[in-house]
Amino acid sequence: MDATDVGADLQKVLIPADRLQARVAELAAEIDADYAGSDLLLVGVLKGAVMIMADLARCMRLPVEMDWMAVSSYGSGTRSSGVVRILKDLDTDISGRHVLIVEDIVDSGLTLSWLVGNLRSRQPASLRLCVLLRKPGAARMDVDVAYTGFEIANEFVVGYGLDYAERYRNLPFVGTLAPHVYAGTGEAEAPEPAPEPVEEGREPGREA
Ligand code: IMP
Ligand code: MG
Repeated sequence: MDATDVGADLQKVLIPADRLQARVAELAAEIDADYAGSDLLLVGVLKGAVMIMADLARCMRLPVEMDWMAVSSYGSGTRSSGVVRILKDLDTDISGRHVLIVEDIVDSGLTLSWLVGNLRSRQPASLRLCVLLRKPGAARMDVDVAYTGFEIANEFVVGYGLDYAERYRNLPFVGTLAPHVYAGTGEAEAPEPAPEPVEEGREPGREA
């Protein structure tokens, strides 16, 4: 899939495919160097991290194991509330293991800080984070990201694993959507990217 397949839905390409691939290769080299001689378990967060996980693991020289978790954070559709539910847990016992969580994006940081707390309680030998994209809001949550692909502005992005309403994940680049895509969805414009905690009850979940 490329830009021509989404036509007028696309507003702009923010990070082209070649820049994504080059940066992922750099991250892989850093991780290889940092974990040389140790057994590493990559934990991808479904579904958004599928693309970076696949490319990162293929660029790495170290043998790694891969496992997956699916979590859902509840908020007003596009806003994270910090209430996280495990939809799919790890198959692996991580106690005593070196674990690197691989995630597509950290926005408010609520999802990842919950996940770090959850996995830390299972007593891994080490636990670090690798995130493709980081938005400014993450600074407020004090999530310590060891490997960051790109710092981006506070706007809603899709592609390379990231979705809007489950679409656009298979674009090879990261981009923004035209306002008409959000029209008629109750979102007047692009989903609000800087969520504040909400107190409402359970609403349609947003899969991380
Ligand atoms: P957080 O808890 O606010 O950090 O939200 C994390 C999750 O929200 C990510 O794992 C994504 O699934 C989703 N998310 C946040 N920002 C975006 C975006 O710009 N595009 C697509 N999904 C996003
Ligand atoms: Mg995600």
